[in-house]
Formats: sequence, structure tokens, C-alpha cells
Amino acid sequence: MNLNVTARVGILTVSDRASRGEYEDRGGPAIQEYLSEVLSSPWQPVAEIVADEQSAIESTLVRMCDDENCCLVITTGGTGPAKRDNTPEATEAVADKLMPGFGELMRQVSLKAVPTAILSRQTAAIRTNTLIVNLPGQPKAIRECLDSVFPAIPYCIDLIGGPFLETDEDRLVAFRPKRK
Ligand code: MTE
Repeated sequence: MNLNVTARVGILTVSDRASRGEYEDRGGPAIQEYLSEVLSSPWQPVAEIVADEQSAIESTLVRMCDDENCCLVITTGGTGPAKRDNTPEATEAVADKLMPGFGELMRQVSLKAVPTAILSRQTAAIRTNTLIVNLPGQPKAIRECLDSVFPAIPYCIDLIGGPFLETDEDRLVAFRPKRK
């Protein structure tokens, strides 16, 4: 278990317009704000914005996982049905293992907020020592989705050999099964 390590967390905004500076990125900062609120152990963000180009998303994910040593990468945007929505394909292309439960739970919870939640193909995957989680592009989706899956994220990161993430328990309790 990696105690006392500063966890590096990739925050990847996938948006043609934000990458061209035509639109202010609100998703990346919302993820950063969420993590600052929930995590009590040391962490630092590695934030980037890329266009909805599958090859660019893949190479940024690979760099965040393999070179930047992020234990967790959270993407926002590009999960829908439109022609340039490629984030789930890029995530699956760089994955060693798929983690379909994340997408299933986030869609289930999101459906209580918006009927169009079924339009998101958001998923999650493991690449070596990194968990990658896709979120939709709507800034309000970030909280709705992360509140549902975040309780399982610290233990998932334990299991793939990452740093020991701790949360502010008044805000969110991380679930770690008791050892037998
Ligand atoms: N999930 C939540 N929690 N809240 C939302 O507002 N928007 C939906 C869906 N999931 C939404 C959501 C909509 S309208 C779309 S088109 C899809 O996510 C895909 O969004 P993306 O292409 O920006 O990733």
C-alpha cells in the first residue's frame, strides 16, 4: 500500500470548442473543485483540454497514465452519440481491462436527473496502474456521476497498486471491504 504519496489525478476535458478557446472549459474546473472537496489525502491535478479527435484523446490518456503517473484520470465530454463523440472508444482502445460497472451505475443515477442520461456511453477502464473514468460534458453531470461511483474509487486504486486515497468522511465515505 502506497501511503504518503501525492496522488496525481488527470483531468481531461474533451471538447472541440473548448480546445479552440471558443468556449470556456467548465467541466475540468468542476472536476478539480469536486476532488478538492472530497479528497483529504494529498493530490495534484494534471489538467488538459483536447479536441474530439480519437487519436488525440488516446495519446493524451496514454501520456497521463504512463508518463505523468496519474493513478486516476477523469474525462469529461465526448460520450454521446454524435459523430465526433469518441471518448469511450479512445478509453477502450488504451485499456487493459474494461470496468463496465462504472458506466452502468452513473447512467442509472443520472436517469433520475435527466431522461437523456441514456445517451451517454460513458465507461471506465484500467490501464496498468491507472483507473480512467468517463463523465458526460455537462458540468452538472460531474457531481451527479462522481457522487455515485467515488465511494468505490479509492479501493479500486488500492487494488491496482496506486496511492492510498482518503476522503473527507463528512462529505463522502470511501468503502474498503474489511480483510478476513
Ligand atoms: N448525465 C447527467 N448526470 N447529467 C446530464 O445532464 N446529459 C446527457 C448524458 N448524461 C447528462 C448526463 C446528455 S444530454 C448527453 S448527449 C450525454 O450525456 C452525452 O454527453 P457528452 O457527449 O457531452 O459526453
